[in-house]
Amino acid sequence: MSRGKVSRRDFLRGAGALAAAGTLPISMVELTFGGDKESVHFAYISDSHIQHIEKAKFVRNWDRGLIRAVAEANLLQPKPDFVMFGGDLAQLGTKEELDHGAEMLAKVSGDLHCVMGEHDYYLDLGEYWSELFGPHYYSWNQKGVHFVVLNSILTYDEWTYDRWDSGVRRMAEMAGLDNPNGSPFMVGEKQRKWLANDLKGVDPKTPVVVFSHSPIQKIFKNWNFWTEDAEEVQKLLQPFDTASVIYGHVHQIQYNQIGNISFNSVMATAWPWPYPRSYAQAESHMPKLTVPMNRADPFHERDATGWQWIDVASGRVSMSYSLSNNTDRVVAFNPETGRPEDKAFQSKAGRIAPQTHY
Ligand SMILES: [Fe+2]
Ligand SMILES: [Fe+2]
Repeated sequence: MSRGKVSRRDFLRGAGALAAAGTLPISMVELTFGGDKESVHFAYISDSHIQHIEKAKFVRNWDRGLIRAVAEANLLQPKPDFVMFGGDLAQLGTKEELDHGAEMLAKVSGDLHCVMGEHDYYLDLGEYWSELFGPHYYSWNQKGVHFVVLNSILTYDEWTYDRWDSGVRRMAEMAGLDNPNGSPFMVGEKQRKWLANDLKGVDPKTPVVVFSHSPIQKIFKNWNFWTEDAEEVQKLLQPFDTASVIYGHVHQIQYNQIGNISFNSVMATAWPWPYPRSYAQAESHMPKLTVPMNRADPFHERDATGWQWIDVASGRVSMSYSLSNNTDRVVAFNPETGRPEDKAFQSKAGRIAPQTHY
């Protein structure tokens, strides 16, 4: 679709009017380039965890999060170039859950792209999900940006194919957050080869945006906030002037910068996870630059979900958060320090101020 240039201010003003009606679980993303080049806008919805109870009954909160996000995405002005769903549509990957979620996502007007989450995958290894949403990994070019979707939640063949006596058991093992029987996520050799080949024909000046479910960086292994072959995937992105990895799965605000690659998480429409550093028994690998958001009430239905604005300009992502029961937050790249910073929580030198609200 083509249209004239739209300023970021107009875009935010349009969506801001919606935000005034309440905090909503959706992310709007804008790629701006300046000059005559057209901007790219996309809406991002993630981690809805649609959960079947019995018969036609599903967990209400999770249903409501996704329904609201889709409705608001359809009202955005300007209309997004596409809508991204970031994975974990289902809780246990059943046909009932995937069908119910797909029915809600079918209400998205315009193009929809979907990322595979572990909760969608480990019951039947993504077979039914594929019937509904297509391939697990692919790429496309749009308005001068190279977009890549990866399936980052694969793991070792032995764990996947040999260890469990049923798909139901395998899914149950992978569905737990803190589970010693889980196995680290990875992109895997086959997909890395595909990605290397895919990126061969892309000019290093082209902005690259990668959508994954798990972070393509190593944060906290015990909760699988982790991708085992993260460094190898990062290496494939290093030749580009700017690259951004946008991921779900962690249900919380995270941001980081590794060389030319910006990392930003999107929040869940379902529930927030606590920050791994509060899990005192094990070492945390939280990126040094990530600052935990203050959490007024972790048990509030919409706490740690809300509006999240992502701008990708020259490959540097900046985010504004409007969180339920939380102070508005802005995380922006500071060219002086070469880091993303949350001004309310970090000093000018980029140091992280003491945290007291989580
Ligand atoms: Fe999730
Ligand atoms: Fe996940």
